[in-house]
Amino acid sequence: MTSIEETAPGRDHFTDFDLDSPEFTEDYEQVLGDLVAKCPVAHSKVAGGYYVVSRYDDVRQCAQDWETFSSEGGFEPGRGGEGGAKLYPVELDPPYQTRWRNALGPYFSPRAIRSREANIREQVNYLIDGFIEKGRVDFVEEFAAHLPGRVFFGSFLGVPFSELPPIQKATDDAMRGPMEGRGEAWVAVATFLDGYLRARQEEPPRDDFIDVILAGVEDHDGNPCSWDHKLYVLTDLLAGGIGTTTYLLAGIAHHLATHPEDRAALAEDRSLWSGAIEEFIRYYASIVALGRTATRPTEVAGQSIAEGDFLMLSFAAACRDPKYFENPHEIDIRRKIAVNPAFSFGPHRCIGSHIARLEATISLEEILRRLPDLALAEGGEPVYSNSTIARNMDSLVVTFTPGEREGRTE
Ligand code: HEM
Repeated sequence: MTSIEETAPGRDHFTDFDLDSPEFTEDYEQVLGDLVAKCPVAHSKVAGGYYVVSRYDDVRQCAQDWETFSSEGGFEPGRGGEGGAKLYPVELDPPYQTRWRNALGPYFSPRAIRSREANIREQVNYLIDGFIEKGRVDFVEEFAAHLPGRVFFGSFLGVPFSELPPIQKATDDAMRGPMEGRGEAWVAVATFLDGYLRARQEEPPRDDFIDVILAGVEDHDGNPCSWDHKLYVLTDLLAGGIGTTTYLLAGIAHHLATHPEDRAALAEDRSLWSGAIEEFIRYYASIVALGRTATRPTEVAGQSIAEGDFLMLSFAAACRDPKYFENPHEIDIRRKIAVNPAFSFGPHRCIGSHIARLEATISLEEILRRLPDLALAEGGEPVYSNSTIARNMDSLVVTFTPGEREGRTE
């Protein structure tokens, strides 16, 4: 193994890795690169100890082999065991997990998601209206942190615009508010979602994914699943798409603000958009890693794994594997990406990927149209944080020539 002097300073990330350490947040890119290049299975002493799997091929193999690498021990260290709220289907294994995916899948297909386009565009322009006259904005605070929640509650659940602020605030506090308030905020979110599901149970069906959740599927034992399981599914659909997409949108704005030549190329040529969005998703891979529990003794990249060991599969590191991505730490909007590791592999591959792509595409289009000279404000560099499984951008201040509001005012 390479000595620590040749790697990111301040900590031996190979034997004492910590997803939450300030050293990782600080030297993020170098640490990911070091893991992939020199230590494909690192170890952490945190939370009872876990392994970090970083190369594309190994991450893919573990994610596909759900019988050896179970999701039922929790998505992050310390979550296993009975009791406590869960997130489903991410903390389930097939065949119960498959039953949920089969039921929900049709509502998250590219075609189904396309039908949301007009509504998402309205949300995007509503948020841009909120700051366009100012010429300067914290893009995370006023756009990226809001759009995914507005799309979920407004576009998918049909919560009226006027009722959005409190549930948006609770979701925001739960995802990225001060640590000490997050538990309480999650309770508020779960209470809202529970109330929403109960209200919908009394209404005629709308042929949406809420009908599917209410109908439920057979659980592990072949019985109709419990109410709690239905709530875990709705919560996962919310939690899976908020912080992740926020980071992606902020990342796109950062790139456009700092790379005028790419901005001009994208403004000129729409055919570059889908490839560029895929590249932004790879580079700004918001899910750093998610957990699996070994169900039998095995080996990953030469490292022995015992039954019960906890592994974090690093999707963000796999996105920086030079075997698949030349110059992986650079954004190349013309790069061809066959399968994006940012969304995982195998049975748990992200169900919301087409929503994220559509939100990103419409945001790109409206930014190019309405904020064509976006630039980084002086001192407005991104502020990053890591929160166990995720990478976040907490602030990004940009400037632009002020424009006019276009739409609704509430
Ligand atoms: C850029 C945005 C996004 C990224 C990077 C992302 C990433 C991921 C990853 C890596 C997984 C795999 C979990 C695993 O293998 O254990 C996943 C699963 C999941 N994602 Fe996303 N996601 C994004 C957006 C969304 C959105 C918008 C939704 C909203 C519906 C969503 C909902 C979910 C759900 C429910 C799962 C669990 C699927 C299962 O376990 O079968 N995600 N996502």
